[in-house]
Amino acid sequence: MISPTANSIRVFLHLLAVAIWLGGQIVLAGIVPRLREVAPDALTTVARAFARIAWPAFVVIVFTGAWGLGTTHVADKDTEYMVTLMIKLLLVGGAAIATIIHSVGTSKLAKGLGGALGLLCSLAAAYGGVLLAHAA
Ligand code: HEM
Repeated sequence: MISPTANSIRVFLHLLAVAIWLGGQIVLAGIVPRLREVAPDALTTVARAFARIAWPAFVVIVFTGAWGLGTTHVADKDTEYMVTLMIKLLLVGGAAIATIIHSVGTSKLAKGLGGALGLLCSLAAAYGGVLLAHAA
């Protein structure tokens, strides 16, 4: 059997947290319209419960991502890698800001646009990660 390493555990934790943050948002986006019809009073409770799981996962994503960068000789990487990394980090920042706007905003615009942009930025950041891991 291939021996587990600290690096493989780090990637596993990065992906596990991504599954919670990103997968959770996609599942919630599918559930919310139905919930709004049958139990609109439960929406806030469900959203808060999800946030209590999703934000710790986001912290794990950032921690394991930074850990990965720490083990990568970033200075030796080419310009393509660095540009991809910078775009990915901007998308991560955009995802966090949009999701905060979605959470604290009360208008339909803040809720809709914040939620949609948060999800799109997270999806694009995930693809950026795949490029870094498999195409560099
Ligand atoms: C919304 C936030 C994020 C998402 C959805 C995300 C997603 C991913 C995914 C799907 C991969 C591919 C892993 C693989 O196939 O092996 C990856 C790799 C990577 N991510 Fe992230 N990531 C996020 C945030 C971050 C942050 C904040 C950093 C750095 C501080 C980071 C650094 C990396 C690095 C360096 C890789 C390349 C492979 C590795 O060393 O693990 N990521 N990411």
